[in-house]
Amino acid sequence: MRHFTKPKNMGEIKNPDGVGQVGNPTCGDIMKVFIKVKKNKKGEEIIKDIKFQTFGCASAIASSSMLTEMAKGKTFEQAKEIKMKDIAEKLGGLPKLKLHCSAMASETLVKAMDDYKSKSKKARLDTVSRTKGEKIKCPHHT
Ligand code: FES
Repeated sequence: MRHFTKPKNMGEIKNPDGVGQVGNPTCGDIMKVFIKVKKNKKGEEIIKDIKFQTFGCASAIASSSMLTEMAKGKTFEQAKEIKMKDIAEKLGGLPKLKLHCSAMASETLVKAMDDYKSKSKKARLDTVSRTKGEKIKCPHHT
């Protein structure tokens, strides 16, 4: 109830590194997760900041809020392991019929991380294609 009435990390991140959105066709609810990413000393991506927008039921809002609390500061590998049962457990349990709300939260985060990965891959490809086939001379070292 606390995470429903006073949700944490609700809102939008300007210029996010990744965005994930999931809609549930059965109930019509929509969840969106925004992430900011940085790398740790080992070069692993970590979730530096995370926010959510949820147009849905009380369980979906509470699940999103709990998800953001659980994911902040985690590496992608650790965040991927946050499953619906973990979120529901942290919330003190959810009715069986509402478990899909927490599943939606964990799926939305995975989508945001995938979005980040596809964007950073594209950025690398763009850099490669810009110099492909050209011999670039550095004016300071010719
Ligand atoms: S009933 Fe749709 S997400 Fe909860």
